[in-house]
Amino acid sequence: MTATRFVDASVIVTGAASGIGRRTAVRFAEEGAKVTVADINEAGAKATVEEIEGTGGTARVAVTDVTDKDDIAAMVAGAVEAYGRLDVLHNNAYWAPINRTVTDTSDDEWHRTIAATLGSVFYGCKFGIEAMLRNGGGTIVNTASTAGLVASPSFAAYMAAKGGVIALTRSVAFDYGKQGIRCNAVAPGLTKTAATVPVFADPDRLNFLTTKLLLDRAGEPVDIANAVLFLASDESGFMTGQTMVVDGGRLIA
Ligand SMILES: NC(=O)c1ccc[n+]([C@@H]2O[C@H](COP(=O)([O-])OP(=O)(O)OC[C@H]3O[C@@H](n4cnc5c(N)ncnc54)[C@H](O)[C@@H]3O)[C@@H](O)[C@H]2O)c1
Repeated sequence: MTATRFVDASVIVTGAASGIGRRTAVRFAEEGAKVTVADINEAGAKATVEEIEGTGGTARVAVTDVTDKDDIAAMVAGAVEAYGRLDVLHNNAYWAPINRTVTDTSDDEWHRTIAATLGSVFYGCKFGIEAMLRNGGGTIVNTASTAGLVASPSFAAYMAAKGGVIALTRSVAFDYGKQGIRCNAVAPGLTKTAATVPVFADPDRLNFLTTKLLLDRAGEPVDIANAVLFLASDESGFMTGQTMVVDGGRLIA
C-alpha cells in the first residue's frame, strides 16, 4: 500500500538540493505533498524537483539563502502563494567549517555558522509560524545533530549552533502548542551525504564516529527522511519539543 500521509499538504524543505534535504523532499512528495524545494544551490534544487516530477509528484524551486532573513520570508510567502498554505516546514539547511576548535574558528566562520545553521531555523520558524497560524496550525521539524547533544572533536561553531537548534525547538513547542503548532527535531548521527565525504576520508574522525555504532553501517539520507516524515505527520501527534536521535545507537553505547 502506498503511504499517503501528506496528500495536498504544502511542505517546505530547506537544504533540499542535496543529501538529507533532497531525500526528505522526495519522500514528502511520494506521500502526496506539494513540496517547495529551498536551497542556495539552484542547480541542485532543480535536480530535486526533476526527480520529484519524474515520478509524478509536485514540487517547485525556491532559490533561498537561509542566512538572509528576507530570503526566508520570501521562501515562505512563495510557498503560500503557490500552494495556498503552509502545513509543514523542515528547517534542514546548514553551513559549518569542520576541524575547528574555538580558538581556530575565524570570526567569519563563527558568524556564518550561526547564521546558516541557527539563524536559519529561527527565521524559518518566525515566518513559518506566522503562515501556519493563518491556517490553524502545522508542524515544524528542525534538523539538529548528535553534535548538539554530545561532544565531537574540533567542531565548535557547529556544536553551538546545533545545541541552539535543540533549545529553539523546545521554545517553539512551548509557545505555540496550544495554537496547533508542533515543533520537533531530528538528530542524525553519521549519515552518507556530500557533507560527510571529508569525514569518511579522515580515519581519526571516522573511527571516533563509528566505534560505538550499534548497527553495522552508517546512516543513509532516507533513514533521516523517514524520521522527519514521522515527526511531521499525525502519527507523532502527541509529540512536541522533542529531539529524536537517529544514529544507529551510537549515543546510548
Ligand atoms: N550528514 C550527516 O552525517 C549529518 C549528521 C548530523 C546532522 N546533519 C544535518 O543534516 C542536515 C543536512 O545535511 P547533509 O548531510 O544533507 O548536507 P548536504 O551538504 O548534503 O546538504 C546541505 C544543503 O544545505 C544547502 N545550504 C548550505 N548553505 C545554505 C544557505 N546559506 N542557504 C540555503 N541552503 C544552503 C546546501 O546547498 C546543501 O544543499 C544539516 O542540518 C546537517 O547539519 C547531517
